[in-house]
Amino acid sequence: MRSLLLPLVSLALAVVSLADPVISPYVLHEKRSSAPQGWSRAGKHNSAAIIPLRFAIAQSNIENIGEYLYDISLPGSSNYGNHWTAAEIAAKFAPSHDSVDAIRSWLMQSTFAVEYTPEAYLQSDMDLFAEKYANILNSAQFAPNTISIDGGIIQTTNKGFADNGESNLDLQYGMTLVTSKQNVTMYQVGDINIGASFNNFLDAIDGSYCTFEGGDDPSQDSMYPDTQPGGYDKPQDCGTVKPANVITTSYGYNEADITPFYAARQCAEYAKLGLMGVTVLYSSGDNGVAGNAGFCLNPNGTETPGGKVFNPTFPGTCPYVTSVGATQVSPNSSVLEPESACEQVIYSSGGFSNYFAIPDYQKDAVASYLKNYPPSYPDSIWNSTGTSRAFPDLSANGANYVVAIDGNFSLVYGTSASSPVVGAILTMVNDARLATNKKPIGFINPTIYSSNFSDAFNDITNGSNPGCGTLGFNSTPGWDPVTGLGTPRFPKLLEYWLQMP
Ligand SMILES: *[C@@H]1O[C@H](CO)[C@@H](O)[C@H](O)[C@H]1NC(C)=O
Ligand SMILES: *[C@@H]1O[C@H](CO)[C@@H](O)[C@H](O)[C@H]1NC(C)=O
Ligand SMILES: *[C@@H]1O[C@H](CO)[C@@H](O)[C@H](O)[C@H]1NC(C)=O
Ligand SMILES: *[C@@H]1O[C@H](CO)[C@@H](O)[C@H](O)[C@H]1NC(C)=O
Ligand SMILES: *[C@@H]1O[C@H](CO)[C@@H](O)[C@H](O)[C@H]1NC(C)=O
Ligand SMILES: *[C@@H]1O[C@H](CO)[C@@H](O)[C@H](O)[C@H]1NC(C)=O
Ligand SMILES: *[C@@H]1O[C@H](CO)[C@@H](O)[C@H](O)[C@H]1NC(C)=O
Repeated sequence: MRSLLLPLVSLALAVVSLADPVISPYVLHEKRSSAPQGWSRAGKHNSAAIIPLRFAIAQSNIENIGEYLYDISLPGSSNYGNHWTAAEIAAKFAPSHDSVDAIRSWLMQSTFAVEYTPEAYLQSDMDLFAEKYANILNSAQFAPNTISIDGGIIQTTNKGFADNGESNLDLQYGMTLVTSKQNVTMYQVGDINIGASFNNFLDAIDGSYCTFEGGDDPSQDSMYPDTQPGGYDKPQDCGTVKPANVITTSYGYNEADITPFYAARQCAEYAKLGLMGVTVLYSSGDNGVAGNAGFCLNPNGTETPGGKVFNPTFPGTCPYVTSVGATQVSPNSSVLEPESACEQVIYSSGGFSNYFAIPDYQKDAVASYLKNYPPSYPDSIWNSTGTSRAFPDLSANGANYVVAIDGNFSLVYGTSASSPVVGAILTMVNDARLATNKKPIGFINPTIYSSNFSDAFNDITNGSNPGCGTLGFNSTPGWDPVTGLGTPRFPKLLEYWLQMP
């Protein structure tokens, strides 16, 4: 589909016609009650300015995407593991010709005139880590296969924890845990000036995502070509990259940072990756029931440090990704003793979405939690309906990782560590399945919540995830909104997934 981007109308005119229900036959699709985080109102737009507009055309069949994904991901389904090809996905969800034609004729009549740069790993730190901890790899060059998207570069101009911490952590643990049997591919997205978003990454994997439903959002996503000095001045990457079997990302938003439309559009794209057999993991966040930077919601929908309302993170609340929380080995305990929810430096994010409905696979687990351990908070500060997507799905240690950063070893904490560790474990399961000519495990949530995986996780029953001036939720027996189902027991996961078709 071509992009329907037209530089035609002034914002003031469009607002007037949309705001009047009497003369306008149009439906208000979405509206923000306040400026998004990081934006402020500067004044009225110059009424003579030319504004580029994009028209969002609904995808066909997108309302059924959850069912399609279930059909190939649910244990016991006759189609389990029958993943779709990229071409099948494009054909199934392309906007209908009728929709495209209707928009074209309306325009004729109308009077309208994953690492994300600058984050980068440092090779000297990789070598330092490999020399001390990973000599089993016997690898001269401890470096990932790097795929550059939208001019992604491994910058070395800026160094230190802020620039190298995340990438070094992800790779030093991700690469050692999968051992040298498996390639680790790193997608470096975005140029040094304007960086990139998850949508930029998804565009590179699925070219149709660049345009359908209006394409990227300039208030959130980086628009290429970037003509500033040093910028990536080529067209944006659309459909140029093949996805790996397991994709783990340790960055995130708060749901309230983005609109429900933006979140739903991106979430459907994760379902498509699941249809192709890709496992998509996101760290749940490090601020307990608060959002990134400790911001909480106010009743009017804004986010501030003093807010009182729990602030769920995204993409973890998308029902088609697997959200990973954090645990710890308690001080002076051994790794053989039960873990607790992480309460050192960070708190595992978890809770209940305000945007997404609860998916079938977790209905029983969440209902059981709400019945047996009902949180005592007033309904006004959390989504207590029991009808919304709950997260995280599972967890892994997030405390005390030794990481080589800028020439020194540092102790690092975060769900940022938990997610690549789970990614490495699932990659080893895939490795074993591929060796017996089975398909990769793909979207795992319907499987891990199913009863035949009930002892495949260490249930975490101690600790909590404070935030927004509260003690947060408690880790309890069974699934909970702090550590999910618990931490992976690799031998069990391997055994059960090898039994499946
Ligand atoms: C797991 O559960 C499903 C549905 O309850 C069942 O059909 C299947 O045979 C079970 N075992 C495996 C190894 O998938
Ligand atoms: C790893 O990547 C290299 C280079 O792309 C390729 O030759 C090799 O087959 C890959 N190995 C595996 C196990 O995929
Ligand atoms: C929203 O509520 C917060 C907290 O009460 C307040 O500081 C802020 O000014 C309000 N913003 C808007 C746009 O109403
Ligand atoms: C852990 O054990 C050490 C050595 O016995 C002791 O000095 C330290 O206080 C203990 N820490 C905690 C948190 O109990
Ligand atoms: C709670 O979640 C449901 C389902 O996702 C949603 O419809 C509702 O608007 C949410 N409540 C609030 C207060 O956001
Ligand atoms: C690394 O550690 C050494 C020794 O403690 C210290 O002198 C140096 O400043 C540290 N480097 C950085 C970049 O923190
Ligand atoms: C529970 O967590 C607390 C706080 O991290 C810790 O001090 C305590 O030792 C843990 N208890 C058990 C039984 O693990």
